[in-house]
Amino acid sequence: MGPVSTDTPDNIHATATTQFLAPVRSRGGEKLVRARGLSHWFGEGELAKQVLFNIDLDIYAGETVILTGPSGSGKTTLLTLIGGLRTVQHGSLRLFGQELRGMARQELVRIRRQIGFIFQAHNLFASLTARENVRMALELDAMPRAEMDRRADTILRRLGLGHRLDYRPDALSGGQRQRVAIARALVREPRLILADEPTAALDGASGREVVTLFQELTREKGCTVIMVTHDNRVLDIADRLVTLVDGRIATNVITQESSVICDFLRHCPIFQHMTPAMLAEVAEKMFVEEFPENALIIRYGEEGDKFYLVREGSVEVLVQGRDDPQTNVVLGPGSFFGETALLTGAPRNATVRAREPVVLYSLGKPEFQQALEGSLPFKEELLRAIVARR
Ligand SMILES: Nc1ncnc2c1ncn2[C@@H]1O[C@H](COP(=O)(O)OP(=O)(O)OP(=O)(O)O)[C@@H](O)[C@H]1O
Ligand SMILES: [Mg+2]
Repeated sequence: MGPVSTDTPDNIHATATTQFLAPVRSRGGEKLVRARGLSHWFGEGELAKQVLFNIDLDIYAGETVILTGPSGSGKTTLLTLIGGLRTVQHGSLRLFGQELRGMARQELVRIRRQIGFIFQAHNLFASLTARENVRMALELDAMPRAEMDRRADTILRRLGLGHRLDYRPDALSGGQRQRVAIARALVREPRLILADEPTAALDGASGREVVTLFQELTREKGCTVIMVTHDNRVLDIADRLVTLVDGRIATNVITQESSVICDFLRHCPIFQHMTPAMLAEVAEKMFVEEFPENALIIRYGEEGDKFYLVREGSVEVLVQGRDDPQTNVVLGPGSFFGETALLTGAPRNATVRAREPVVLYSLGKPEFQQALEGSLPFKEELLRAIVARR
């Protein structure tokens, strides 16, 4: 075969793997949060300490995102920036399609009204009952008092507090107080909920219960949730798991898809020798990237930096960068490309362009090479596949 082969996934790669790919719930949804190159410092001048570094993050409508990472890694800082509670200093942060950097105070207040906040110290008003605490959240809306009470009671009942409507916080347990705080954040049915360790003060069983209720309600109402937690027992509710380490995003995975990615990798000939654990490790390091129609994903002659899997849509491989419908190969969901340049160190020998809006999974060169190091059969198989295609 001619040059089509080298960086061009052939039919082996392009097998009908669509069946392994379930639709992504969040895809097609609106992007609620979009951070690009977001950095943050505390302190001034010489004493300024950078705590967030160049954060790129997309969160889609309807997703439940768990933000985790060691203490001091910047989780609360990021959450409060997203919530418009801190001034964006550097980079771009869009919320509900609007840029927060440089936004006027009044506008920020308006945006914050569309967010439900649940913080570690849940700041309930000690002198108010559970119902009154929840009703507070509705008081800025023009709504008859009876309607406010009805909504407050409904949500408190859903959270299992029907028998505690008239109790003040000091007469409630930690778990009950946390549930009041959740009710207060949810009662206005906000588009976005920001929660900072909502289960921190709770023991395992009540933490789990609170989170399960929380999940039920947010799913029902289609809320997007960003929750900071250290609690390993609640990670399974996440659609996306983002890990911060030292102010940087260390991993960003769509958890429910990571098993899908594994399945999909396993069905590709060159990955099939990897153990499930190895596949999971590779899947965890993959990022989701979107490209609009006609975008150039790989350019002929450039250095290879990533390996890609097609998640949704299709791409066209332009051999030697030339647009020639005769030799162009179209790759759809389940296909992969970009591995050869990573293996050989040679420049890209084809251009790859999005034929329509596409969603890809990408794996960086170091992670790709690490996967190779870890798997001798994988490497052999990959080299064999390449040789076979020449
Ligand atoms: N107001 C502040 N002034 C100065 N430094 C701060 C301030 N708030 C946070 N920091 C520092 O910024 C870094 C990130 O803090 P942040 O609270 O975002 O971490 P975190 O990941 O939420 O940690 P934890 O899990 O302990 O809550 C830490 O080093 C912290 O000491
Ligand atoms: Mg914190």
